[in-house]
Amino acid sequence: MPLTIGVPRETFAGEKRVATVPEVVEKLLKLGFKVCVERGAGDAAHFSDEAYRAAGATVAGSAAELYAAADVVFKVRPPTAAETAQLREGSTFIGFVWPAQNPELMQQLAARKATVLAIDALPRQLSRAQKMDALTSMAGVTGYRAVIEAAHAFGRPFNGQVTAAGKIPPAKVFIAGAGVAGLAAIGAAANLGAIVRANDTRAEVADQVVSLGGEFVKVDYEEEGSGGGGYGKVMSEGFQQAQRAMYAQQAREVDIIITTALIPGKPAPRLITAEMVQTMKPGSVIIDMAAEQGGNCELTVPGEAVVRHGVTIVGYTDLASRLARQSSTLYSNNLLRLTEELCKAKDGALNVDMADDAIRGLTVIKDGAITWPPPPLKQAAAPAAKPAAAPAVSSKKSSHGHGGGGEPMSARSLLAVSAVAAALFWLVGAYAPAAFLGHFTVFVLACFIGYMVVWNVTPSLHTPLMSVTNAISSIIAVGALVQVAPPLLRSSAEGAAASGRPDDLILGLAVVALVLTAINMFGGFAVTRRMLAMFRK
Ligand code: NAI
Repeated sequence: MPLTIGVPRETFAGEKRVATVPEVVEKLLKLGFKVCVERGAGDAAHFSDEAYRAAGATVAGSAAELYAAADVVFKVRPPTAAETAQLREGSTFIGFVWPAQNPELMQQLAARKATVLAIDALPRQLSRAQKMDALTSMAGVTGYRAVIEAAHAFGRPFNGQVTAAGKIPPAKVFIAGAGVAGLAAIGAAANLGAIVRANDTRAEVADQVVSLGGEFVKVDYEEEGSGGGGYGKVMSEGFQQAQRAMYAQQAREVDIIITTALIPGKPAPRLITAEMVQTMKPGSVIIDMAAEQGGNCELTVPGEAVVRHGVTIVGYTDLASRLARQSSTLYSNNLLRLTEELCKAKDGALNVDMADDAIRGLTVIKDGAITWPPPPLKQAAAPAAKPAAAPAVSSKKSSHGHGGGGEPMSARSLLAVSAVAAALFWLVGAYAPAAFLGHFTVFVLACFIGYMVVWNVTPSLHTPLMSVTNAISSIIAVGALVQVAPPLLRSSAEGAAASGRPDDLILGLAVVALVLTAINMFGGFAVTRRMLAMFRK
């Protein structure tokens, strides 16, 4: 008997998302399930009941009817007490639950003898879990929308312009917290033409900030900011003081601050004080994406946009819901991937395999027994170890101002290398034929110049470097050019040899070589130009 997946209408005020979209209904049916959707569940996200019916779902007239029919409930927001009471005993609930923040809800769900899969408790560090990572897909949408809200509240375009009516300076945007949402915001703001700066306690994100078109601003205090699993941690008082000083300076300089700093299971760190807001230019904007967790700014009012000291402070907690059609589609795909993991036999039944690390992590209640928190992951040790090495490299890079790698040589080893090279040259000069020394010198110089050029190129530019070197290698065209040149230009020796027929063959080959090297040369430069264009704003 195939299970019925029920998709209720979200009841949280202002929530526009829906847990399953018609496109995914079709795929759930192929896995052997039946799907029942509450009337109007997709309306706010622009998915009509007709579209669900056309995809093969049935439409329930009321929430009561839906919960009575559902063996499995797919939802976005955690269930309310009233919704929990309607869950059929022994049924399965899949959606956001936030078990740490909602202990009462956990008890209520356990009392229904339910099995609860909290999508927010997914072990995100497992690469296998990425396709089910709803936190990441929602954060991407949220970061983008935060920039759009900022652009809406800000009184000028983001990109600098010179017009007949006057000059428009580019907007300066500072992003506090460069996790998934922060990085999406950096990309969106940079694409709109703003000057973007960002800070995070985890130094390893510096390269990602730069690759998205931002500048990483470091706090002048040495402390490792990684709390494991890719998350931040509560920093020492000394660090916080240094960070406040840097943020105060940014507040004076920039037009827009977007904050996304969070630490799992803790209230959001207070990064923007009332005094900092006071020092911002009139008309500036703060978007506080951490509003739901208490806010990164002291003056944020969760759920509202307020004006304080001439600064608009936006504390909306429904940014993903403001792009409901897209976020519902992404969320729905995440739940589909999870369902595929739970129903490998495609027989319309769920197998919650507690031996599977990903499934174990997000199963917070199994048949009425609370199984949260899960035991620590064995694999977690590997990614957590990475950040320790990262800061040294990134700080060195920023202080040098270029992306060059490798440690500078000590004076001693430089002396030793020079001595060996000098001895080698002396030996070659003394014993090798005279012509060899000239070629050898050119070879050594070429190696040296090649080394210096390649070593100082940022690794991300190595591909265009390869293609430009390939184009330059077309210098061999000179050889073919000499062959096709009129006999007058050739040396007398060649002219003498030109009396026989084989010259035509050489000429033909030289022309072919010229055509091929021309393709290599022009194609190489064109490809390099296109690749470099991707790195330019
Ligand atoms: P989040 O929403 O919990 O935190 C946002 C950011 O705030 C984090 O980057 C954190 O370091 C930063 N932060 C915390 N306290 C701060 C402070 N006082 N000042 C400045 N910044 C502060 O994190 P999110 O976006 O959910 O994920 C964080 C990271 O986890 C991602 O950037 C990614 O590297 C990692 N991750 C890894 C995955 C994987 O390995 N497959 C999947 C998902 C995320």
